[in-house]
Parts: sequence; C-alpha cells; structure tokens
Amino acid sequence: MKKTIRVLASAGIAASVFVAGAAMAAAPDWSKVTERKIKLFYPGQASLEWVMNKPDHSAVPDIVNKNRTCAKCHEGDANEIGDKIVAGKPVGQSKVVLEPKPPAGKVGWIPVTFKAAHDGEKIYFRFEWVPPKTGTVKMDAKNEVKLTMLFDGGGTVEGAELNGCWATCHNDLRSMKDGKDDKKTKYVKGADLASGKFYDLMQFRSGKGEKAVDGYVADQRVMEGGKGLIKAAGVMEGHKWVVTFERTLAGGGKGDHAITPDKIYNFGFAIHEDYTEARYHYVSLGYQFGLDKNVEGVKSHYNVTKR
Ligand code: HEC
Repeated sequence: MKKTIRVLASAGIAASVFVAGAAMAAAPDWSKVTERKIKLFYPGQASLEWVMNKPDHSAVPDIVNKNRTCAKCHEGDANEIGDKIVAGKPVGQSKVVLEPKPPAGKVGWIPVTFKAAHDGEKIYFRFEWVPPKTGTVKMDAKNEVKLTMLFDGGGTVEGAELNGCWATCHNDLRSMKDGKDDKKTKYVKGADLASGKFYDLMQFRSGKGEKAVDGYVADQRVMEGGKGLIKAAGVMEGHKWVVTFERTLAGGGKGDHAITPDKIYNFGFAIHEDYTEARYHYVSLGYQFGLDKNVEGVKSHYNVTKR
C-alpha cells in the first residue's frame, strides 16, 4: 500500500534536541511486532464515581475484593457497552442513561490495532484504525483527531492496575454529570508528583501546525513539562489512521515516568475522533505493558519486546 499520503503532525518542543539521533535510530519494523486488537468504546458519563458505585454497577465487590480488572469482564462486550451508551440507552444495574444527548449517527466503538516495541533506549507505540463515519458538529475545529495515552509509574496510582486511567475521570469534569466549570479537566485524587502518583500523558493532534503534547495528569492536567516524547506522528494510509509515538525510556522531564524493565506499567488510551473534545471520545479499558515481560494468564498485559 502507498504510504505517507499526508504527515499531519510531528515533533513537539523536545524534538529539536533529539532530532539528529532520531533520524539515525530507525523505528522498529512494525510488521514483526505482535499486534493487539483493542476495542475503544464510547463511555459517555461513566465516571470513576459511577463505576465504583455498587447500586449503579453490580461488579464493585468483584473489583474491590477480588481485584478483577475492567478488561477481564469487558474485553468481550466493550463494543456492546459503547453501542448502548452512545444511543442513550439505560445501562448498569440502576439503569441510568450515561449519554443524555446521544450524538446523531455516532458509532459506539472503534477497533484499534495496538503495537509497541523498544530498543533499550526508546519505546515506540503504534495505533491503527479506520475512522468511523463523521458528523457535522466540530467541537475542536482544529483537530480532526487526537490520540492520548496515559500511563502510571508501575503501580503508582491506586486502582490503575485494574482500571487503567479511570482514576482521572470524575463527575465534576467539564461535560460530565456534575460539571460546573468548563475548564475543569482530568485529575487524580491525592496526586503527588514526587512519589509518582500521577499519569504521564502523551498526545498526538492532527491539526495543521499543532504540536505533540508531553504532559501529565496529577491534581490537574498539565499539557507540558515532559521531556521524553521525541515524536508523535499521524499518517493516513489509505483509509486508515496510523499514529505513532516515539519516547525515551528515561523520560526525565516534569511529569515523566521513567520506564524500566523491573516494572509493569498501567495504561489506557483515548481517541477523539471527528473534531470532538472533552468526554466525547472513545476510550480503552485498562491495559498493562512491561519491557520483555511475559505475564502468563493476564489478558490485559502487553509484552513490549526489544527490536
Ligand atoms: C466482575 C466483572 C466486572 C468488572 C470487573 C467490571 N464490570 Fe462493568 N459491568 C459488569 C456487569 C455484569 C455489568 C452489567 C450491569 C451491572 O450488573 O451493573 C457491567 C456494566 C458496566 C457498564 C454499563 C454498560 C452495561 O452494559 O450495563 C459500564 C460502562 C462498565 N460496566 C464499565 C466498567 C469499568 C470501567 C470497569 C473497571 C473499573 C468495570 N466495568 C469492571 C461486570 C464487570
């Protein structure tokens, strides 16, 4: 297939420092990297408070007492969950509507192919999907697509090993159920940069001239400070979007987690398709990655192997 039809965005601020090195070290041969199909679904207002409230969600005792991951129960039906929520149907044990204003024609989920590899110095992530049908409303007129990945410091955020980045999603955020402040974005309760209780954030934005974002989510979301992200790029290959991140393992900036072989990192990612913003995105359940770590029996684990 013909490649590189349009390169829509690339290096962030940190890039200038690393560009020479980046040009020399080739990206992995992606055809040799194990792929993982991940269903991204439309969550509506399914906040942390909602998923952890037993009257709403009967699974709470299993989450709390048996450490059941969201993925364990929902990898199979995440598509059905998204379809129900986006259509404004009542869900959960309490049968509440998690999308009070169903967007016309919006699909409930998108299948994404995920890959990651490392070379001892850098880690590379790749996401591929076919854009779903689009609507007419442009909430973020600049960016047709944003892809955001959040990861903790290897078990540093409570609950992240079960729910990925649900700890950042609250009822009082803009566009959520109790949202009053239209500037209020993601946060982690009791966050602490010094002890690693925060999520590292990397974001690709498709808009012309838009920079890659290397930030973090602590007691508030900060869209700068990181030094690890070398490149975030997005390309249309035929009908597909292919977004890649290239990041140093060391990190080293504010809100950067160092990625080391002894830890297992919890992550989740989201795609804002069709010029959306705030909660109007598709999200993954919680997943984990480790460097050259095969974890038997944990379906949500991805082994990032050396290339
Ligand atoms: C032990 C299995 C289990 C776990 C773990 C679990 N769920 Fe659920 N979830 C269910 C069941 C069963 C339902 C159906 C409604 C109910 O019983 O509350 C449901 C319903 C939902 C719904 C509403 C959609 C629907 O079809 O009703 C959402 C959204 C959801 N879960 C998200 C999550 C998230 C996010 C997590 C991780 C924090 C999670 N669930 C963990 C079993 C689970």
